[in-house]
Amino acid sequence: MGIKITDTVLRDSHQSLLATRMRTEDMLPICEALDEIGYYSLEVWGGATFDTCLRFLHEDPWQRLRQLKTCLKKTPTQMLLRGQNAVGYRHYADDVVIAFCEKAVENGMDIFRIFDAVNDVRNLETAMRAVKRAGGHVQGTICYTVSPVFDAEVAVQMGRELVQMGADTVCLKDMAGLLDPFTAGEIIGKLRQALDVPLQLHSHCTSGFADMAYIKAIEAGVDIVDTAISTLSHGTSQPPTETLVATLRGTKWDTGLDLNKLTQIADYFAGVRRKYEAFESDSFGVDAGVLIHQMPGGMISNMVNQLREQNALDRLDEVLAEMPRVRKDMGYPPLVTPTSQIVGTQAVMNVLAGEPYKRVTREVRQYFQGFYGHAPAPVNEEVQHKVVDHDQPIITDRPADHIPPELEKARAEIGELARSEEDVISYALFPQPARDFFTWRNAGAEPEPQMVAAVAAALAAEAEKTRPAPAVDGHANGRSAWKLAGRQRGVRAR
Ligand code: CO
Repeated sequence: MGIKITDTVLRDSHQSLLATRMRTEDMLPICEALDEIGYYSLEVWGGATFDTCLRFLHEDPWQRLRQLKTCLKKTPTQMLLRGQNAVGYRHYADDVVIAFCEKAVENGMDIFRIFDAVNDVRNLETAMRAVKRAGGHVQGTICYTVSPVFDAEVAVQMGRELVQMGADTVCLKDMAGLLDPFTAGEIIGKLRQALDVPLQLHSHCTSGFADMAYIKAIEAGVDIVDTAISTLSHGTSQPPTETLVATLRGTKWDTGLDLNKLTQIADYFAGVRRKYEAFESDSFGVDAGVLIHQMPGGMISNMVNQLREQNALDRLDEVLAEMPRVRKDMGYPPLVTPTSQIVGTQAVMNVLAGEPYKRVTREVRQYFQGFYGHAPAPVNEEVQHKVVDHDQPIITDRPADHIPPELEKARAEIGELARSEEDVISYALFPQPARDFFTWRNAGAEPEPQMVAAVAAALAAEAEKTRPAPAVDGHANGRSAWKLAGRQRGVRAR
């Protein structure tokens, strides 16, 4: 059967290459053409796109979704959902997650790829149930990770649980591009034998594995793969759509997609990419370092930034050596937002403090308390004892069961500034960025023109050398002028 394609051009590819800054105005003119391709789906929404809309672009993410849905009449829309974290960076109460899922379906979202940063399926329950009930398609997700406690058998076990929980399809998600071709073939092959639902593979080209991994996965029985139109592919993005289409032409996996039509789309996005040139990430081509340290690209640049801030860049080697120890202490969590930042930041603190866990972040304390769910392996009890206050309980049940409802509190807090239920949800997820956006919008302002942002970024380019960029997402790549400009605007807005 032909391989189906999800194109990530409206979400992951610009998140990976252009710091998530593509605006709706650059998406809408090409939607009609995208809709004619015959994709399985178009990925259009996720945590970073939602956050960036509010925080940096002065756009309403819900409106973007509605506008895209109006133009995409035939092609299903797809989003990435961080389980109980929804599109944010912490666990939210069930009422917020449920409201988000319901409104997302209502505003036009079709397929929800739902994952959890520590692969704890209990953190997927609420979102999966809410999406199902609202009539959406649930794609249960296995986060691929390189660790002594993750292998094909673990993936199969998790895949079975996801299907039992109602997953319509199952995705193997390799957020850091660490999945080598033969492992891809092995895991997909075993999932194929064990599961009756369609399988999808998501990877990144960061290490150079992905193009090859896709072929091995296709041979092993994957049904759908994530690619990006050529002009926004490779680097830290996905493998190019056209190359895979041409590769499979005339085989039993022929996608049936028209290369000539795809070329027109590629030409269009070549122009869009030039528009955002100032915001390109620093890394081009293949980052072979990933093959050795097996860390997501964005994670290293975050650690570099933190060290630079402390004037301790010469201690990077110590931090790189400390990172695997911290990860082991934490029970080998996959390195994806937010765990990648939590592990990386703690590794930096351990080195700078001269003693492991002398200083810890709030997130690390909560992690060891159980508020992120079950780690893939038991955590180091000695460390747990050291970082968790002794009067605080260690929880072993579903973390969100400890979070009281949040939606009505959010509604009361934001009051008249919110114009819709969607606004209330945006506020519940991102209080300050949403409030800033509403205030700005209610003052009658128009979306900030891209040129103004570009000038701001250029002016900020000098400061970039000494100031750290914010951790927007695991895919983010550190010192880009976009991120710096966005951060400075964000700071000013507060
Ligand atoms: Co990705």
